Amino acid sequence: MSISRFYIPTRFIIGAGSLAQLGKEVAKLGKVALLATGKGGSMRRTGVLDKVLKDLEEKGVKAITFEKVEPNPRSSTVDEGAKIARENGVQVVIGMGGGSTMDASKCIALASSSTESIWDHYVNKVTSKGRVPPIVLVPTVAASGSEANNGAVITKWETHEKVPVMKPETHPTLSIIDPALTLSLPARTTAQGGVDIFCHLVEAYITAHESTLINDSLRESCMKTVVDTLPLLLNKLDDIEYRSRMTWASTIACSQFANLGGGTGLMSMHGLEHALSGEYDIAHGDGLAALLLAWMKYTLPVREAKFKQLGEKVFGETDGIAATEKWLKKVGMLFTLKDLGIRESDFEKLAANACKTAPWVAFHPTPLDVPAIVSIYKNSC
Ligand code: NZQ
Ligand code: ZN
Repeated sequence: MSISRFYIPTRFIIGAGSLAQLGKEVAKLGKVALLATGKGGSMRRTGVLDKVLKDLEEKGVKAITFEKVEPNPRSSTVDEGAKIARENGVQVVIGMGGGSTMDASKCIALASSSTESIWDHYVNKVTSKGRVPPIVLVPTVAASGSEANNGAVITKWETHEKVPVMKPETHPTLSIIDPALTLSLPARTTAQGGVDIFCHLVEAYITAHESTLINDSLRESCMKTVVDTLPLLLNKLDDIEYRSRMTWASTIACSQFANLGGGTGLMSMHGLEHALSGEYDIAHGDGLAALLLAWMKYTLPVREAKFKQLGEKVFGETDGIAATEKWLKKVGMLFTLKDLGIRESDFEKLAANACKTAPWVAFHPTPLDVPAIVSIYKNSC
């Protein structure tokens, strides 16, 4: 096994009902909190937000709500949240929602430490001058795994650049992972999340330049969990056992546990997808679903044995790509870029954007440049 780095400074509280710990834990970190949620209002509708606000108040924490984070969160939204945090002396930032809210919250905390835009932290590599408040994350979607890493994907809408901000300070201090919060997710968002989890795992699994028993087995068991559980869950959206399985798979899939020894090519399909959701504002899971089979076929010539192993270990079939296609169909996620409204005339522009915003795609086992990405987009139609 070659040299890897491994660092997860986050404390986790996991399990149905664990949300009840939030107020008590936040009070240990600070007395003034900014609580970010999604602008769609799901946390208000389900009564979760009121419950959390009451809990925080009872524990002596003043909470300022910021209910404005959109899917594919914008850098301008982050800047707005950071200004509010700065002006109110916020000591802790809580992100309660899907990957978009959690990512925006990480960036709000980071940008609140100085007056620069979050974009300057990314582009100009600004280092925080002040203290970055601790970040507490509460995922409400099983998908991104943002609760277990320091990545935050934000978009500068003016230029459609969707990029990952990753700083030592954007590791969450605490993540409270309560699968009961995902019970209110509709079928489509649930399925999009399942595809995202599968892709985090399959990208690392297929492209790894070396296989170890532990890494392969961990990824296989997480993929199998998602492949087997998602169809069952879609037939019974209120099943807490299925929700718990998906939530835990999500947390592991995008953490360093699953990425340790990942090899080159990690997240290469993600790089291609971010260009799509950064331009067309589609759901991340939809974009991945449309690209998955073409990305697999592009990679097949250099990873034949691994695709066979995928088929056998995860699906109990001989052909990993055909089995993935059947699964996508079964969970209602088999569609094309055309189905998502993405125009072929934009492919060159999108591919150039992917190379710029996700330069790691060049480290795919068969390097991805503009013509190669255009060919994957074309094969996704
Ligand atoms: O606005 P709200 O009300 O929160 O509605 C959201 C949104 O419309 C809704 N939702 C969230 N929790 C809900 C709920 N609806 C009902 N009940 C609940 N419990 O779900 C919709 C989608 O939310 P979003 O946060 O956008 O979804 P997801 O969790 O899939 O996150 C996607 C974002 O994460 C980034 C993606 O690029 C994308 O921007 N990623 C972040 C990663 C990371 N930080 O490690 C890695 C991922 O690969 C990914 O790139
Ligand atoms: Zn993803």
